[in-house]
Amino acid sequence: MQHDPPDPRLRDSALFGAAPGQGHGEGAERLSPRNFTRLAKLIKDYCGIKIPEGKRTMIAVRLRRRLVALNLVDLDAYCDFLFESGGLEGELIHLINAVSTNKTDFFREPAHFKFIWNTALPALAEAGRRTIKVWSAAASIGAEAYTVAMVLQEFRQQQQGPDYSILATDISTDVLAVAVQGRFTQAMMDPVPADLYARYVLQARDAGRDEVRIVPQLRAKIGWARLNLMDQSYPVDRDMDFIFCRNILIYFDKPTQDAVLQRLSSHLAPGGYLILGHSEAGAATELQLKQIVNTIYQKT
Ligand SMILES: C[S@@+](CC[C@H](N)C(=O)[O-])C[C@H]1O[C@@H](n2cnc3c(N)ncnc32)[C@H](O)[C@@H]1O
Repeated sequence: MQHDPPDPRLRDSALFGAAPGQGHGEGAERLSPRNFTRLAKLIKDYCGIKIPEGKRTMIAVRLRRRLVALNLVDLDAYCDFLFESGGLEGELIHLINAVSTNKTDFFREPAHFKFIWNTALPALAEAGRRTIKVWSAAASIGAEAYTVAMVLQEFRQQQQGPDYSILATDISTDVLAVAVQGRFTQAMMDPVPADLYARYVLQARDAGRDEVRIVPQLRAKIGWARLNLMDQSYPVDRDMDFIFCRNILIYFDKPTQDAVLQRLSSHLAPGGYLILGHSEAGAATELQLKQIVNTIYQKT
């Protein structure tokens, strides 16, 4: 997680050195090649994320807090706990929370929001649409969903645009717990245009506190749920006008990308848009969708 509350994963990192007297210090990342392979396979099978050998240190750093929580001495002991001692079922959710990369920003890849404002919303309004549905499918701590809410609310108010609802899902229960609160550091708000900031962001009552909060009006527009994109079907409406799936496909291999995108596109309404991250532009080549610009696809 970047920008938002300081990441305990970094503070706890074995790489950065454990505090004197702290357990689980040097050597905590000890992980045999066999256990690394088992762990990487488990993560890939469950949530699609590839863990190549080059990410061994990153995984060790991120899992260190699990060693502390379980009072285990190193990652080999963690793997014994998972694979030999029946710990897997109860631990899986914590493991996935710990290893997922949650970097996000408000107004990340702003061209997407310009497209929605300048092109997609006027077309929907012109067609007489009264409500629109949006799905943020790997939402992290919610910056993407709250950004969309600001844009849709603004369009609604300025141009008598459609009402809207937003579904925001992620595999990580940790990020969802942050997202639902709608509380962020001041620094995270830097990309938010000043007029939107003034309308949709509240200051903390305690002026000394580095925290702002999204206004209740926008928070009420977003439903949050845990959803694993690796699941074979999604319990989600099939008439979405916008599906955001940004900055997650890069962690998947091509067959996984194709399968996830097939499933996601089956949840688009006719005319609905699928929006991918800028580094994922090539991922949707197999889909029967019309490419509008680099990373925006439309169901015809
Ligand atoms: C890098 S963040 C991207 C957030 C946001 N879409 C953006 O572009 O700013 C990727 C998110 O995908 C989530 N994720 C990872 N694997 C997932 C899966 N199999 N299903 C759903 N979400 C997943 C992670 O927990 C993380 O919050």
